[in-house]
Amino acid sequence: MDKKAVLDIEHDDGDTAEWLARRRTRRHRPWPIVALALLTFFVLGTHIHLTHSGAGTQQSVRIPVNAEAIQTRCENLKLQPGPPPTFNTRKSSDRFTLGTKPTLIKNATIWTGRVNGLEIIKGDILLDRGLIKGVGPISADVLHNLDEELITIDAKGAWVSPGIVDLHSHIGDDPAPELSGAEDDNSLKGVAQPWLRALDGLNTHDDSYHLSISGGLTTSLILPGSANGIGGQGFVIKLRDTAERTPTSKLLEPPFTLNRSDAMDWSLPPRWRQMKHACGENPRRMYKNTRMDNMWAFREVYDKARKIKEEQDVYCEKALRDDWAGLGAFPDDLQWEALVDVLRGRVKVQIHCYEAVDLDDIIRLTNEFKFPVAAFHHAHETYLVPDLLKKAYGQVPASALFATNARYKREAYRGSEFAQKILADNGIQVVMKSDHPVQNSRYLLYEAQQAHYYGLPDNLALAAVTTTPAQIMGMDHRIGYIKEGYDADLVIWDSHPLALGATPKQVFIDGIAQLTSPHTVQKPESFQKVPETPDFSSEVADAIKYEGLPPLAPGKSVEGTVVFTNVRSVTVRSEEGEGVVSAFDAQRDELATIVAQSGKITCSGIKNACASFLGTPDAEFVNLKGGAISPGLVSFGSPMGLLEIQGEISTGDGYVYDPLAKSVPNIVDGDATLIRAVDGLQFATRDAYLGYRAGVTVGITAPMSGGFLSGLSTAFGLGSAHKLQKGALVQDIAAVHVSVGHMGRTPSVSTQIATLRRLLLEVGEGEVGSRFKDVADLTLVVEAQSADIISTLLQLKKEVEGNTGTVMKLTITGASEAHLIAKDLGDANVGVVVVPSRPFPYSWEHRRILPGPPLTRDSAISLLLAHNVTVGIGIEEAWSARNTRFDAAWAALEAAGDITKTQALALASSNLEKLLGLEVAAEQADLVATEAGDMFDLRSKIVGVISPRKNVVDLF
Ligand SMILES: *[C@@H]1O[C@H](CO)[C@@H](O)[C@H](O)[C@H]1NC(C)=O
Ligand SMILES: *[C@@H]1O[C@H](CO)[C@@H](O)[C@H](O)[C@H]1NC(C)=O
Ligand SMILES: *[C@@H]1O[C@H](CO)[C@@H](O)[C@H](O)[C@H]1NC(C)=O
Repeated sequence: MDKKAVLDIEHDDGDTAEWLARRRTRRHRPWPIVALALLTFFVLGTHIHLTHSGAGTQQSVRIPVNAEAIQTRCENLKLQPGPPPTFNTRKSSDRFTLGTKPTLIKNATIWTGRVNGLEIIKGDILLDRGLIKGVGPISADVLHNLDEELITIDAKGAWVSPGIVDLHSHIGDDPAPELSGAEDDNSLKGVAQPWLRALDGLNTHDDSYHLSISGGLTTSLILPGSANGIGGQGFVIKLRDTAERTPTSKLLEPPFTLNRSDAMDWSLPPRWRQMKHACGENPRRMYKNTRMDNMWAFREVYDKARKIKEEQDVYCEKALRDDWAGLGAFPDDLQWEALVDVLRGRVKVQIHCYEAVDLDDIIRLTNEFKFPVAAFHHAHETYLVPDLLKKAYGQVPASALFATNARYKREAYRGSEFAQKILADNGIQVVMKSDHPVQNSRYLLYEAQQAHYYGLPDNLALAAVTTTPAQIMGMDHRIGYIKEGYDADLVIWDSHPLALGATPKQVFIDGIAQLTSPHTVQKPESFQKVPETPDFSSEVADAIKYEGLPPLAPGKSVEGTVVFTNVRSVTVRSEEGEGVVSAFDAQRDELATIVAQSGKITCSGIKNACASFLGTPDAEFVNLKGGAISPGLVSFGSPMGLLEIQGEISTGDGYVYDPLAKSVPNIVDGDATLIRAVDGLQFATRDAYLGYRAGVTVGITAPMSGGFLSGLSTAFGLGSAHKLQKGALVQDIAAVHVSVGHMGRTPSVSTQIATLRRLLLEVGEGEVGSRFKDVADLTLVVEAQSADIISTLLQLKKEVEGNTGTVMKLTITGASEAHLIAKDLGDANVGVVVVPSRPFPYSWEHRRILPGPPLTRDSAISLLLAHNVTVGIGIEEAWSARNTRFDAAWAALEAAGDITKTQALALASSNLEKLLGLEVAAEQADLVATEAGDMFDLRSKIVGVISPRKNVVDLF
């Protein structure tokens, strides 16, 4: 057949009718330049009219008017997401804000993120037009040619890192303070809803934006919640304020699909999209599904997406060979297009997934439907199945983890603080993430510090909150590094970023300084280098050997003689009652020897002071290598000892009746009942033992209550195996506890106050009556957050004292807003336990926090102490008891010398005891032995507890 094609180009009159033609030849063209040219052609309103004469009859096939556009779109399906080819030559950021002046940061120690996180450059950084324009020596020429006046900052050698990047956040979708009209992170309308978009609920008034920036956070991936198998699409945002004040203006490289597809330029490579999936307990619980149901829900929707994809592929194959007969419209479906993009490998799939069973299910799913997974989040068991991860379709998923937050639910029970190291050893990428507000993303860097402490190498630990998450979210062409041409997002730190308590001196986002008048703290010289960390190799091996449940009880309880050598410092309870004092601090290298027998120190001194003990038969020798002896710490605030797994009520004591919510059965004495925590106590929980191994020897716990009345707290030893063991109980009854506020309660705050007044002033019945009458002797502990409620409690105290003529012992816990009335608390001699020790505006009653440096000079703790308020620090969940020593150290670090080391130790020991009604004689108090450093030191490891109460030295 003789086929001679004629190309005839005409102007379109705007008619949308399709053109008639019999056939059209098509040559293979270099992509994408020609396609772009042709597309432009059509946009300009031209048509290609093709005719050719065949032998005999004139056949007609309708070529769609947008044939070239269809072909462009079809070619686009083959492209992988990424920046346009010209991206690296950009002179200005698309996020550049007019009027931002160029900034020169001089004399910085720069962790660039390059060379696997090993490159450190000493020099200058130039920021201009939202970009990093130079790193290292900046030529005078460059500086001379800037359009605008240059701001110069002398970093004086300070560490500078890329801005911190959070791979998993709900900022804006779950805003703080939490109010019912703003929580938008979980839709409960279906198990698999890939069409939902986290952006649609992104509130711009979350207090967290500024707070998290003050911790160095610059970019977050906002994901839908985990209630659904497929919760919807996530979006990357930069946290800074924008002139537009809109959610959209916070977006970083939003996918083009944000707009309707007919508005899209298909000639450009697509941008990365993000999608949240979840498996395991959450979708199971929300939909009363089994895991089998959930996996079917996945397979059902993926099959639907697969069919659409196949239709598209068939369609495009035809379109690209100009086979237009009966082709019709491009097969698409707004509801499923995002999932089709997943199958095309164009979506970073972020999967909330914990256990081996769930990970295995998902890996099978990826191979059945052929799509890659960017990261498993939470991923508490990934370290147990690294080889499984390597079987995922297309690429090995990263693990996005918490550092020490585990055991809060069943599927997190085998979580290990050594997971990061083990995964890295297996070549798996590690990311530390916040899940904000589950963990406050202001302290995301602290997660990296802890991971480093437990063995993740420093280059990978810093990468885990910068370069790695940037790569996993597909943004590493512009963020996560300090590199010429990258976005001007960086942090100037007051110490090495992996040193405990590292705090920004300044944060830049898109070249804009975020802290207006930062309060900075001078950190010690020793904080300016990578912290040394202990050797945990045997713990690492055990974590794997015991599948996350290694034995945690003390390895050895020695009743006889234990000799601690090479002790650099000894800190003990003051004999004169309150507080903690330094008993020994080595001058130069004259280290001490401490001898303990039956759990009591019987000799201490330098040189030959304890020589006579060294020959004791069967004596155990422990070389502390310059370590320390410090007071055992106390834990308060969590259900420690009453609950093993927070999400599983059957693993604990359960909740007491709340007489303000419903009537209490008469058989337990009705409203007159007051429950004792000691009766529900359980020992040898994993969190108790982990706390013990981290220097926390005593827990004080009140009965679990969802309401006003809790009951009588108890004090117990975290290192004991059961209640009947010697020394297991420290004090059966510590204090009487109530809670005043709105959390989960129906009667008004004033009703709760009225109830408390009645209990304190009127002769009540039963145990309630006698204990509340006794608050001159027994401490009344009231959990309250708002300054208004705390003020009312101070007035009530006066009223009670006026009426009864006795001095009431009152302690406030929670105490988020206590600093607002610090003077009054000091005057009233009412102490507070701040829970948590670093505040967050969770609810309305918590909202007026004092954030501390760099936002304010004072922290709540330092301000309260300055007003002579006795302050203790508490925790919210039992897993974090182990971090008490770091919490105390942090309080001292941010107080810039206002809080001494001994005061900081008191915050978590003697002060807590005093505030919660625990009486421990100095000579009965536990002491903790640390190797290679003191309790506050990232170099140190806790190796033993000297326990006069148990009459043993426990060695780990
Ligand atoms: C950088 O700062 C450090 C610390 O202040 C100082 O010792 C050093 O001399 C400075 N270097 C330059 C090149 O200015
Ligand atoms: C979406 O459309 C709006 C309005 O046409 C445009 O300003 C914006 O740049 C588009 N966004 C994307 C990501 O394409
Ligand atoms: C705190 O106590 C000290 C010592 O008793 C006293 O000198 C100081 O004035 C008190 N400060 C306040 C703010 O009450």
